[in-house]
Parts: sequence; C-alpha cells; structure tokens
Amino acid sequence: MHGQDSAHRELKVGILGATGTVGQRFIALLAEHPYFVIHALGASHRSAGKRYSQAVQWKQTAPIPHAVRDMVVHECKPEHFTGCSVVFSGLDADVAGEIEADFRRADLAVFSNAKNYRRDPTVPLIVPLVNSSHFAMIPQQRLQHKPPLKKGFILTNANCSTTAVVVPLAALEKAFGPIESCMITTMQAISGAGYPGLPSMDILDNVVPHIGGEEEKIEWETLKILGGIVDGDDGLKAFDMHSPSPLRISASCNRVPVIEGHTECVSVRFARRPPPSPQQVREALTAYTSDAYALGCPSAPRHTIFVHEEPDRPQPRLDRDYQRGAGVSVGRVRQCRVLDIKFVVLANNVAIGAATSSIINAELAVTKGIIA
Ligand SMILES: NC(=O)c1ccc[n+]([C@@H]2O[C@H](COP(=O)([O-])OP(=O)(O)OC[C@H]3O[C@@H](n4cnc5c(N)ncnc54)[C@H](OP(=O)(O)O)[C@@H]3O)[C@@H](O)[C@H]2O)c1
Repeated sequence: MHGQDSAHRELKVGILGATGTVGQRFIALLAEHPYFVIHALGASHRSAGKRYSQAVQWKQTAPIPHAVRDMVVHECKPEHFTGCSVVFSGLDADVAGEIEADFRRADLAVFSNAKNYRRDPTVPLIVPLVNSSHFAMIPQQRLQHKPPLKKGFILTNANCSTTAVVVPLAALEKAFGPIESCMITTMQAISGAGYPGLPSMDILDNVVPHIGGEEEKIEWETLKILGGIVDGDDGLKAFDMHSPSPLRISASCNRVPVIEGHTECVSVRFARRPPPSPQQVREALTAYTSDAYALGCPSAPRHTIFVHEEPDRPQPRLDRDYQRGAGVSVGRVRQCRVLDIKFVVLANNVAIGAATSSIINAELAVTKGIIA
C-alpha cells in the first residue's frame, strides 16, 4: 500500500448496507483510511435509529472501530447523506436498484457492489486493478441523466468471482494479446452469499454445484471489463464487450465449505500462435501492475498478482489475506492439453471481490478529479 496521502483533504463518505457482510468490511477498511472519513451509515428500517454496535452482528476479527460504534444508523435516504463526497453501497440487490437511483438523483456519487446497474450501457463496471480507463463513461452518464447531474453517478464493481478471474486475464492480454476462449470452474466461499448464508446442514461436508445467476455474471461481466470503449457515429461512447476480438467464456460455479476466498481453475486459449509458454505466463503475471497503484491509490496492492511455485498453492486459508485481501494469488501455471494454459486463481471475495474494489475505485475517482 502506498499513496500521496497528504495531497488529499479529508472527504466524507457514507455506507449503505453498513450492517451487512460487505458493509462491515467497508467499515473496517475505511476506519483506517488516510482521507476518507466515515460520516453516515445506512441500512434497513430494522436497523435505522439504532447505534451501529446495537444494529450490527459484527463478524470481523478486529473490534468495531471506535469512531463508528455509537454512530446512529439511518434509513437509506439521500437526506441523511448530505455532504458525503462518496457513497459506498453494500446493499442487497433486491433494494439496491431503487435506493442507488435515488442517491444518484440527489447528485451523489455511488460506488455499488450490487448487480443492478452492471449491465447499464452508461454505468462503468470497474475492477480497479484492470480497467480504470472505463471512468471515461462518467461524463456521458451525468449528461444523459434527466436532469443532467453535476457530481452524481453510479459506478459498479464486479461480481466477486468475476473479479478474481479478470485480473490474471487482463495481465495475460496485456502481455500476449487477445484471449480467444476461457473455461472457468469456481469453488466459492460461503461469505459470498452474505450473512448468515447457507444453513450449515447444507454446506458442511458438501459441495453445492449451483449459484443462481453466477455463471452468467462471469461470462458477461468479463467481456465488459476486458473490452474497451468506442465512439459511436451518434457521438456517444459505448462499451465494446471485447467485440474486436471475440472472447468465448464458459463458467461452472460451485459453493464450497470455505468461509472467505474464492478459488477458480482457469484454462485459456490465446489468439496468437504459438501461445506463450507456462514460464512466460508466470513472468507476465508477476510483472503486471495496476494503474491504481501507479496513480498512487493508497488501497491499491503494490503487487497485484503473486505467482506461487509450490504445487499446492494458492489455498483460501493461507492466501486470502495477501496484500490485505487486495491482491490476487495464482498458482499451478501449466500447459493445458485442450486449450493452451491452465492455472488456479484465488481472490478474497469480501475484500478485492467487494469493499476493497469499491474503495480503490473511489480513490481512482479522486485521483482523476471526478470527485472533489
Ligand atoms: N458477500 C460478498 O462476498 C459479495 C461480493 C461482491 C458483491 N456482493 C454484493 O454486495 C451486496 C451486499 O452483500 P452482502 O453479502 O454484504 O449482503 P448482506 O450481508 O445480506 O447485507 C445486506 C445489507 O443490506 C441492508 N438491507 C437489506 N434490506 C434493506 C432495505 N430494504 N433497505 C436498506 N437496506 C437494506 C441490510 O441491512 P439490515 O442489517 O438492516 O438488514 C444489510 O446492511 C449484494 O448486492 C451482493 O450481491 C457481495
């Protein structure tokens, strides 16, 4: 972690869904942030009016940060968030759509973890270690909003299992050009479904080979994230969905009895012939650095991808806290006898898969002058 912390004045931030799994991670991370200061907390009517420590079922390893223990939780209404430069959302998808639209209408900048706006043609879907160039869509989103907005927008980060896989894929495309096809099999942690998640009787001693909507999310979101932005004949920008070089993705998703950290087995075929060797792939993954780190975002990991040489890594229990959960771990890079190369990737679903991504995205927005 690094940053030009003293260059930024303090900026007030709010958290929607502050009592949830992702919301708690926001609280833990933001309590130590160099320039974001927690100013307002929102959750459902069940929590509204209570002090945070009474409203939350706190499940983090460190105690509730002192600064938020006694803060009163509000309903998720923009009037309680006046003065916030950034609003982070860890809301359930059932309610995120309407609430986040209300906040944008109130000219607030919303950084969402929910799926609702990821497919919106004017909403950037940004994994901050990959596609910070998609911030270029924000001016158009503000202009197309009725009425046009000065400060407000919605920006989303990706589904947690998409986030894990797009980081190495971006590194490989940067080094070797387009990937043509990709097969992904996930082993996803229970915390990915929020608290309390699956009943213990359903997940202990078991693997559940279905997570509703997850495979479609990986297959679609990866194209938006790894694709570019084109200028259309109508003068409007559009996400190209990787169309200049079509990419076929097939994902199979499984829930496994792990608390935190999604593990994914990935096979890729490159457009270029001959494909890179496993050693060239290891070197390209290790060398990859994000714009977010280069631009000085304090929560960006110094080393984006750690490549393990040991044959039995990465493992969720051992590797999910790499770079405070902001980095991604890869291992078992080897030849694939069907496609070209296969490997295992592991990312912390609650950190870089959720809250940490949103926070780095907001830091990028500050760095790029989109938030003042
Ligand atoms: N968990 C992950 O690894 C992960 C990763 C990436 C993205 N996501 C996405 O992030 C979002 C949050 O997930 P989560 O796992 O943190 O869920 P969660 O633990 O179930 O938390 C949901 C939060 O939403 C609030 N909420 C529920 N109904 C509400 C309403 N009617 N009005 C206002 N607030 C309401 C809850 O407040 P109360 O406590 O008051 O009920 C709680 O704070 C979801 O959209 C999820 O898909 C999760």
